[in-house]
Amino acid sequence: MNSGLEDVVAAETILSDVDGEAGRLIIRGHPLEALAGRWTFEQVVHLLFGGFFDDLPESERLAAMLGQARADAFDRAHPLLPLLADLPVYDAMRAALAPMPDGIALDDALRLVAAPAVLIPALLRQAAGEDPIASDPSRGHAEDVVRMLGRDTGGAALDAYLVTVSDHGLNASTFASRVVASTHAGLTSAVLAGLGALKGPLHGGAPGPVIEMLEAIAAEGDAHAWIDRALNHGDRLMGFGHRIYRIRDPRADALKAVLHTLDRVGDRLEFAEDVERIALVALRQRKQNRVIETNVEFYTALLLEAVGFPKESFTGVFAMGRVVGWIAHAREQALTGRLIRPKSIYIDEGRARAA
Ligand code: ACO
Repeated sequence: MNSGLEDVVAAETILSDVDGEAGRLIIRGHPLEALAGRWTFEQVVHLLFGGFFDDLPESERLAAMLGQARADAFDRAHPLLPLLADLPVYDAMRAALAPMPDGIALDDALRLVAAPAVLIPALLRQAAGEDPIASDPSRGHAEDVVRMLGRDTGGAALDAYLVTVSDHGLNASTFASRVVASTHAGLTSAVLAGLGALKGPLHGGAPGPVIEMLEAIAAEGDAHAWIDRALNHGDRLMGFGHRIYRIRDPRADALKAVLHTLDRVGDRLEFAEDVERIALVALRQRKQNRVIETNVEFYTALLLEAVGFPKESFTGVFAMGRVVGWIAHAREQALTGRLIRPKSIYIDEGRARAA
């Protein structure tokens, strides 16, 4: 038995390929480096949705439809916001998605892509005691998100981030979405499954703890001592390690390159790079039979912080990008895959005790 399903092939996909030995990510024929910072998020939505919806229009028309879906999402979300005020932002976003129609059409898909982009900024502003800002459908997707947050810069950085995390093979949340879609449930159900799996700190929940780790190290003033103590205690360093990558996660470098283009991050980035260097040396010394490198979440934390997102919203912003991958995988599974239903080994507790 292999309880983590390592090396188990459970799907064929045309959507993305993660080559863990080469440290390479291909998204539908394009290396990540050719997409991040070069293609808009809307263009990547078009790329990933191609062939999965009969009425998919050309890219510009799809971008306009997504803009309209954001405006509609704002109108729907506005009256709901006070009801969600007591929930953490990720849980509030998930709750607002739950009652959405559970169809499989392009309109259903665009509604699901638009919803997190509108809800996260609105929920954050509500939590800060500020009025939500309505979507402007004429803007680019990422630029509009930043504007709804109340910021006037950072759109290009967020765009590159959303593209970078749009799809990544059969990761835990995408697998969860495919399992649900394999039963022929609708896209809202598949996205809710993805949201549930993404939340945990071993997957999309890591970037908030990355900031907490950096803050704790800065407060102590000695990265070596902090990291040694954490590892002696058996803790995991957040933003390091990956199930598939045996060399550096290429998404970490894509995001680090974007960070170097931003003005606001100078000292913070330098400090994080120092911590990264020290952490990698410590991990290499202690885990000599296991390559543990920087993963996407380390620089995600810094990038989203620089754009203006507070750490409690990082996983929700991750979902804003990954929702496209979940939807494309869900359609692919429903169209070409089979009901996913593995087996378990039964342990008879009574007999085990008697033996
Ligand atoms: N810090 C310290 N030790 C680590 C780390 C880490 N970040 N990652 C793995 N290890 C160690 C484990 O303790 C284990 O050591 P042992 O053999 O001495 O017990 C060994 O490396 C192998 O660990 P596994 O749990 O088998 O590795 P797995 O492939 O399951 O882990 C994972 C992948 C869950 C991402 C892990 O590296 C981790 O917990 N990282 C920290 C959390 C994190 O950054 N998550 C984001 C991942 S990226 C994403 O999902 C978008």
